Amino acid sequence: MTPTPSNSTVLSEMAVVAPSHDAPPTDVTVDVHDLTLVCPQCGATASGATARFRCACGTPFDLPADAFDAGGASADALRARFGARLGDMRGVARSGVWRYRELVLPLAEEQIVSRQEGNTPLYAVGAAELGAWRAVGAYAGVARLLLKHEGANPTGSFKDRGMTVGMSVARALGARAVACASTGNTSASLAAYAAQADLPAFVFLPQGKVAGGKLAQSVAYGARTVEVAGDFDDAMRQVEAVADSLGVYLLNSINPYRLAGQRAIGYELLHQLDWQAPDWIALPAGNLGNTSAIGAALLRAAELGLIARVPRIAAIQAAEAAPFYHSYRDGWAPLASVRASTRATAINIGAPVSYLRAREVIRATNGVVAAVSDDEIFAAKAQIDRAGIGCEPASAAALAGVRKLVGEGIIAPDATVGAILTGHLLKDTQQVTPARLLADEPPEVAALLREIGAALG
Ligand code: F0G
Repeated sequence: MTPTPSNSTVLSEMAVVAPSHDAPPTDVTVDVHDLTLVCPQCGATASGATARFRCACGTPFDLPADAFDAGGASADALRARFGARLGDMRGVARSGVWRYRELVLPLAEEQIVSRQEGNTPLYAVGAAELGAWRAVGAYAGVARLLLKHEGANPTGSFKDRGMTVGMSVARALGARAVACASTGNTSASLAAYAAQADLPAFVFLPQGKVAGGKLAQSVAYGARTVEVAGDFDDAMRQVEAVADSLGVYLLNSINPYRLAGQRAIGYELLHQLDWQAPDWIALPAGNLGNTSAIGAALLRAAELGLIARVPRIAAIQAAEAAPFYHSYRDGWAPLASVRASTRATAINIGAPVSYLRAREVIRATNGVVAAVSDDEIFAAKAQIDRAGIGCEPASAAALAGVRKLVGEGIIAPDATVGAILTGHLLKDTQQVTPARLLADEPPEVAALLREIGAALG
């Protein structure tokens, strides 16, 4: 057993990890009222305190990554500061979002609604690794594959990263209620953070199309659930109209502060790699918020000199819900929405809100968009599950996409690839439970013993 250190040992260890004295002060904060949102389509601007997130031209406003400066710090000073915060035992720096607050949103600490989100593991599963996990990399066909498991967030998906920032802003602006439309994960996250912030929450869900685990979370955490006849895109239209007319603060990824928080996936991933950028980052793409956010983080990290080159982004859609892929494939033809019908319910989206932002990210990172069938998604999920890692169906699109792009010669087998697993296996257990476990009759004991005997050789 490790002996418990005395207080004096703890203090001297903390002194070792304290930021170096040449680092600039860390207490630079912004007031959201002083920020300016910009329309990426027509250049119009709005106050950072607005609750209307669409420009008059219809395009969602952006919070530019350089809307606030990074405290005037050099790349070396920022890297040292982020590293030093890993030793913090108190305060918001324990969050894998707020640790990077100079790059995310430097709110004053007392405004922050946080529950130590982020800090998600990065699993080395490449074919070049030792151990059973290498099977995942071998399946994808890459020597160096890193799975960033965002399912390890407090509510089991990457949505918590955007929600801690969005909810903090909602509270700072004096919002009286919050709302979102969701395929299930955003609503679970919204419900949890609204409970913490003590704000009433309304979630608009496509009826019968949300996985059980996610629905259970929203209800249990106390959100008022509105089931909308139709799909996610219908729910999105309804919640936008309601938020506008009733003055409820909208926390979908159309809200630029949500996306600011999701940028932290990129910063934390780069930090975990000691700021050595991978060649590729692959992720599932639905409403395109995450593609936009991670892309913005990578571009910002390169601009600040935190990394020497920008990884290429591979955005992976389900073939049955692939309007972004269609546009890309047709030389960036105007977005044509579709009726989505994939079994990966989290990304069952036919009219992605962040299309324009994501298109710019794919262009700027020399990225690609791919589409994979449901069969490919579930085959990839079986690999991740079997490794003992597990993820929800939509997340597995990232691995299926890497495999496809390696097969097409777009990703080189010796590339270093980061893939984002966006949600936890337990979100959607109907899709994994082997039929045998669901059968009324348990397996015969004698047969089970024979199986165990065979497994032991
Ligand atoms: N993976 C999971 C597990 C998701 O829940 C989502 C989106 C995505 C990927 C796609 O991310 O929309 O930023 O492109 N879920 C949203 C929700 C739509 O309501 O929970 P995106």
